[in-house]
Amino acid sequence: MHKILLNDGRSIPQLGLGVFQTRDGEETANAVYWALEAGYRHIDTAKIYANERGVGEGMRKSGLARGEIYLTTKLWNEDIRKGRAREALAESLEMLGTDYVDLYLIHWPAVGYEKAWMELLQAEGKIRTIGVSNFHEHHLDSLARTAKVVPAVNQIEAHPYFNNQKLIDLCAARGIAVQVWSPLGGTGGNLLQDAVLAGIAVKYGRTPAQIVLRWDLQRGVIVLPKSVHRERIASNGEIFDFELSREDMERINALERGERVGANPDTFDF
Ligand code: A2P
Repeated sequence: MHKILLNDGRSIPQLGLGVFQTRDGEETANAVYWALEAGYRHIDTAKIYANERGVGEGMRKSGLARGEIYLTTKLWNEDIRKGRAREALAESLEMLGTDYVDLYLIHWPAVGYEKAWMELLQAEGKIRTIGVSNFHEHHLDSLARTAKVVPAVNQIEAHPYFNNQKLIDLCAARGIAVQVWSPLGGTGGNLLQDAVLAGIAVKYGRTPAQIVLRWDLQRGVIVLPKSVHRERIASNGEIFDFELSREDMERINALERGERVGANPDTFDF
């Protein structure tokens, strides 16, 4: 599994399983178990997903040692606003059944994120790497005025209809790795029915999902596709044995429509 080196000297597998909207219990435990069975070594959850217990179950069921799995969870907005970053982290660890996370992210730039950031920097040992999610340039600037530690990661929405390339380039210039959520266009989207993607998929003998995920690998981002189906989870992971030509990369870049599926970090209301 290909890895990316972060600005804190640690590395992260470039493909991870996303579990947003995956139901706690068997559905989540199975998705995590199937991903690990298929060779994924990176799981991305969040406190607000309310499935951290299932994630922990799936990890244990895999029989893999804790150290072989890269695990991310996120600090929820209410906990940021209430100034309870460290309490929320402890609650997540309890649900996950582990004593550390590889990556802990500030989920959204909710009021108080600078203070939460300072608090988390003190969470010795419980967090291996610290980062943010859904941050625009001005949020990163505000954080930089508060603390010297630059986030290792910024996790943002991106897919071919909203490729977010400008923000990705800006993060790269600051030494921040980008993770992308809703890489397949999210639940209920129509990206995977796109005719251009279908044509490229036929050309390479791959699925449209594999084409999109491979495009992300080649543009250097960490990609977190979500599925609850065993076959899809496995096939979404089979993206390390082919390469898109520069021309086809550009055809996918050209699908840009400025079409978000999630909230805008400047106007979110949750
Ligand atoms: P499901 O969980 O039922 O497989 P994103 O990662 O952009 O959030 O997109 C996830 C959506 O795409 C989910 O609705 C997921 O549904 C679906 N999905 C994931 N992998 C595939 C695939 N290989 N082919 C078709 N749909 C997929």
